[in-house]
Amino acid sequence: MILLNGKKTSQEIKEEIKLKVSAMKERGERAPHLAAVLVGSDGASLTYVGSKVRSCEQIGFESTLIRLEDDTTEEALLLQIEQLNQDATLDGYIVQLPLPKHINEERVLLAIDPKKDVDGFHPANFGRMALDLDAFIPATPFGIMQLLERYKVPTSGKHCVVVGRSHIVGRPISILMSQKGPAGDATVTVAHSRTQNLAELTRQADIVVMALGIPEYLTADMVKEGATIIDVGITRVADDTHPKGYVIKGDVAFDEVAAKASYITPVPGGVGPMTIAMLLQNTFLARQWNQA
Ligand code: GUN
Repeated sequence: MILLNGKKTSQEIKEEIKLKVSAMKERGERAPHLAAVLVGSDGASLTYVGSKVRSCEQIGFESTLIRLEDDTTEEALLLQIEQLNQDATLDGYIVQLPLPKHINEERVLLAIDPKKDVDGFHPANFGRMALDLDAFIPATPFGIMQLLERYKVPTSGKHCVVVGRSHIVGRPISILMSQKGPAGDATVTVAHSRTQNLAELTRQADIVVMALGIPEYLTADMVKEGATIIDVGITRVADDTHPKGYVIKGDVAFDEVAAKASYITPVPGGVGPMTIAMLLQNTFLARQWNQA
């Protein structure tokens, strides 16, 4: 069994970007600049946005954190977005999700200039990705593709079962893995909450991507010997024995599934750290694509 070490791979990717940024600065060019907008004070969102900003500093990017109150109106947020769209010193930005209930998420995502949409959530980017054109690919599926490629996991002609059809993970990874090229050329099945006999499907899979959000759902009896297992789950489960009062659980019963797998991502330390590295990669690409 080979562990797909996202912590290590993400550090390598960050190191690669850091070198390119140094070279840029030596040429007298401006460093890439990422901004993050956080509305409210949700604990998990604060943690995520905090590590995004810290990672920028580590690799020599400029970063800006824009914090808005919980009761910020949709109009005020749209105005902020318009300012970010116009800001020529900014290469890309993200609006951290989820947004407070009184704000229409779709309207907000549509307002982001696709050229600065480093999350890849705008329909223009999703469409471009689906049509094999240059696009910002959402960070989580982009991170999974990088892990598969860098560890040379065979995907061509393999049967991949994706469990989950979210716009951020399940849907895009199903498209990417069926496309031509590295980590692609797979035969993809998308399973979801209405799928019947899920275990029958996952048992046929050479690769299982779990993006369901139910802790330890995938058990050893549901996978075939030698399968590759990608676990996108990150659920906080209450645990009083831990200082934080919770532990992070993936969608895979790790120990028993790892015993049968040829490659598997751990949680934490698998797909999670890759997402930040790929957000930085998208910001670097934004800097290159938009400077012409
Ligand atoms: N919330 C959880 N994941 C993400 C992400 O990748 N981007 C943004 N903007 N919000 C998130």
